[in-house]
Amino acid sequence: MMKYRSEITGVGSFVPPKVVTNFDLEKLLDTTDEWIQQRSGIVERHWVEDSVSNSDLALEASLRAIASAGIEKSAIDMIIYATLSPDHEFPGTGCFLQAKLGIPEIAVLDIRQQCTGFIYALSIADKFILSGSHRNILIVGSEVHSKGMDKSPNGRNVTVLFGDGAGAVILSRKDLVDPIKDSRIMTTQLFADGSLAKELWIPAPGVGLGKDRVNHQMLEEGLQYPQMNGKTVFVHATKRMSECLTSACKEASVNLQDIDLFLFHQANLRINTKVAEMLSIPDERVFNTIQKYGNTTAATIPLGMDDAIKAGVLKKGMLVASAAFGSGFTWASAIFRY
Ligand code: UT7
Repeated sequence: MMKYRSEITGVGSFVPPKVVTNFDLEKLLDTTDEWIQQRSGIVERHWVEDSVSNSDLALEASLRAIASAGIEKSAIDMIIYATLSPDHEFPGTGCFLQAKLGIPEIAVLDIRQQCTGFIYALSIADKFILSGSHRNILIVGSEVHSKGMDKSPNGRNVTVLFGDGAGAVILSRKDLVDPIKDSRIMTTQLFADGSLAKELWIPAPGVGLGKDRVNHQMLEEGLQYPQMNGKTVFVHATKRMSECLTSACKEASVNLQDIDLFLFHQANLRINTKVAEMLSIPDERVFNTIQKYGNTTAATIPLGMDDAIKAGVLKKGMLVASAAFGSGFTWASAIFRY
């Protein structure tokens, strides 16, 4: 019998104030509001001002999560930071966040699982909590995509989809009393298939490219921008998200019909609609935010969680399922009682 459980005790999020609508993008890229809405469901997204970094967004989200948990920031004993758009190549952005939070000498870990990053981070944090070694882990998903995308018509297939934002949760150690009723992470399942890594990636800078990590030719070819085979990603996303949701339910001994709320990664409204259709999940149980934020990659799930709480849709004691899919390819699922 397990002694401890991991409970989500605090949730916070932050998006930069500047809103960029599809109509704004029409002026930059060879695109239309109609195309973007029809293909992805996105209406608008947020972009940072030039002076704002990834760890700035994370700081705001983290402070809100800490306040919502009702703890002092000194009670945090680990940070797990998921991002694909770090402040700098190294060190990990978690270290910059730690300094901004002013928390000394705790463990800080960056992970690079892209759109699946938050669930990977949740899973890692859960294991540390259950081992008894840590009490309050700050998990952050944060992205600044706007500075890293091709804002010429060449980049239109990717640039219209992504936005900036951050979400954070506090995962806390509690005594396990009732495995059915207690708020806790019930299961997490993590997967990857690196044979498809180059279907969605940023080639440069990188020491895998030859003599130089980055050179003028690479920049002229646009290798510093995300490259995506959208159709392949779409097909794998729907298949893998539905698979890992089903297997997570089995592992947690719950039925899909018993799940109160589905917090999916937000890459494309059509992906989530398709997954819901494949698993006969009623639309009203899926909480989507992509319409107003676009794809904020590692931030989508905690950002959605925070919005769902504020909207009164996610309430303490509810059974929640999450699933995500992204670059790597990586995919993952989580079942938890909030
Ligand atoms: O978190 C994981 C990250 N990514 C994903 O999950 C993305 C998964 N894939 C998708 O969401 C979809 O594949 C997209 C939204 C990216 C694209 O939708 P699609 O229905 O697969 O469109 P497509 O790529 O086949 O492009 C259709 C047409 C093409 O023109 P032609 O060849 O038919 O003349 C594109 O050039 O749409 C064109 N197109 C655009 N037109 C206007 C591509 N991007 C745009 C754009 N605006 N922004």
